[in-house]
Amino acid sequence: MHIVHVTAEMAPIAKVGGLGDVVTGLARACLTRGHKVEVFLPFYECINRQHIKELAVVSTYNSYFDGSWVPTNVYRGLVSGIPVVFIEPSNHFFKGQSVYGGSYNELEAYLFFSRACLEWLQVSAIQPDIIHVHEWQTGGLPLLYWDMYQYLSLKKPRIVLTIHNMEHYGECRQEQLGKCGLDGSIYATEEKAVDDRTIGHNPERLSLLKGGIVYSNAVVTVSPTYLQETLCSGWLAGTLIRHRDKYVGILNGIDTAIWNPATDAFLPAKFDANNIEGKKICKLFVQRGLGLDPEGHPSACDTAPLVVCITRLVAQKGLHLITNAIRHIKQLGGQMIILGQAPDARVAREFEGLADLHNQGSSIRILLTYSEELSHMLYAAADIVLVPSIYEPCGLAQMIGMRYGAVPLVRKTGGLADTVFDMDDPLQPEKANGFVFEGIDEGSFNWALDRAFAYYREKPDEWSAIVKKVMQMDNSWNNTARKYIDVYNSVRVRNQ
Ligand code: ADP
Ligand code: GLC
Repeated sequence: MHIVHVTAEMAPIAKVGGLGDVVTGLARACLTRGHKVEVFLPFYECINRQHIKELAVVSTYNSYFDGSWVPTNVYRGLVSGIPVVFIEPSNHFFKGQSVYGGSYNELEAYLFFSRACLEWLQVSAIQPDIIHVHEWQTGGLPLLYWDMYQYLSLKKPRIVLTIHNMEHYGECRQEQLGKCGLDGSIYATEEKAVDDRTIGHNPERLSLLKGGIVYSNAVVTVSPTYLQETLCSGWLAGTLIRHRDKYVGILNGIDTAIWNPATDAFLPAKFDANNIEGKKICKLFVQRGLGLDPEGHPSACDTAPLVVCITRLVAQKGLHLITNAIRHIKQLGGQMIILGQAPDARVAREFEGLADLHNQGSSIRILLTYSEELSHMLYAAADIVLVPSIYEPCGLAQMIGMRYGAVPLVRKTGGLADTVFDMDDPLQPEKANGFVFEGIDEGSFNWALDRAFAYYREKPDEWSAIVKKVMQMDNSWNNTARKYIDVYNSVRVRNQ
């Protein structure tokens, strides 16, 4: 099967969060299973070209936008062994120092990108079986696809959409659809969302994500529990219920080639479930490197559990619980390192203030930056990985943490509820692999943290056993890639 991913992110060259990880991991898993896979990505100015192997210009073609033709370069290259097609328009789209937040209209840029990818497929006569789009950014592609492919006699690819996060739905004006050549008015209706060929009832507030749901052949979200949550609440719940027969929940995996403590080049010492000594070296290395020197600390290294939280600092991630964790971990004599970036200036200021307050002491480090290298070292050093999200479609941090022997402490929501099971849950002791709380209040969180610290300090044998257990769990793409391939096959067989 020939699968083309059309995406705004790809790890490690254009990664902001888990979307980038998932595209690379799933693409590699399908390649390994003998399928032909390509990833289409905007050629962001911020991409470090040294990380692309065999980069070469393929062609220049004209892509339509807003009444004129934009000369667009196409490159090919290899990223982590995966073939990538880079789309580089000659206008201002995708220029800037970061993947998101450049000084251009993102919605229009991604609509342009979606159309440019389809145009390139047609110009180059590439005929994939599946076009796999992700999130609102490429949710407009299925609309464009029906418009551009309906009269062609080419083999028609089928479209699969993965929703990674319903919070972002790509609000779009009818007139913006017009800019990429669509008659925007046919997608809006005065009626309240009864006609499912439309993508909103207010022409000023259409949704590219809803477009993706309505016009794709299959829709996937990233965990079974999140699937249930999205059917029960949120303004697209009705749409999802109407399209329930093509909507499935498939838990993400992690790319175990990238996330492997036994081979990880970023680590000062390697380790695995049967040889854990290297993890202690990683912990000491990080503590010393960040001035959290165990000797200078009131508790000795072994009694001070190190809690790590690596996350985008946004409301979804439970910001008040993260700040509460700083206080509570300090009180309990533990240590905590936060690695995160806040896209919102107000949140950034709050965490800068906390960093100024705490970073000189011997318990807390708040590192407000993005660093792939540091993230690997911190997962390896951590005793506990913290994911206290208010909602979490899947979450990769808890799975990566487990692979590196960090015991997860999570809120019971979305994919966290599908991957972490409480140590003290009498109903399913065989699944126990971490600490789970349900409320969104500090009390619930502290209760789970207190229990985790008690296990760490008072039951060292049980702690060692759980560390070994989480490291041996299989959260790789092994099972989940197969489920995606089933989805690809089901739309191929049903519709061709
Ligand atoms: P989300 O996609 O909502 O951000 P996930 O848990 O699915 O959450 O994925 C987050 C990914 O981004 C993980 O690979 C995590 O290690 C990484 N990450 C988040 N923040 C940073 C950061 N500041 N530096 C390095 N990696 C980060
Ligand atoms: C989103 C979600 C996260 C998920 C990731 C990859 O960013 O917030 O829960 O793991 O996408 O699917």
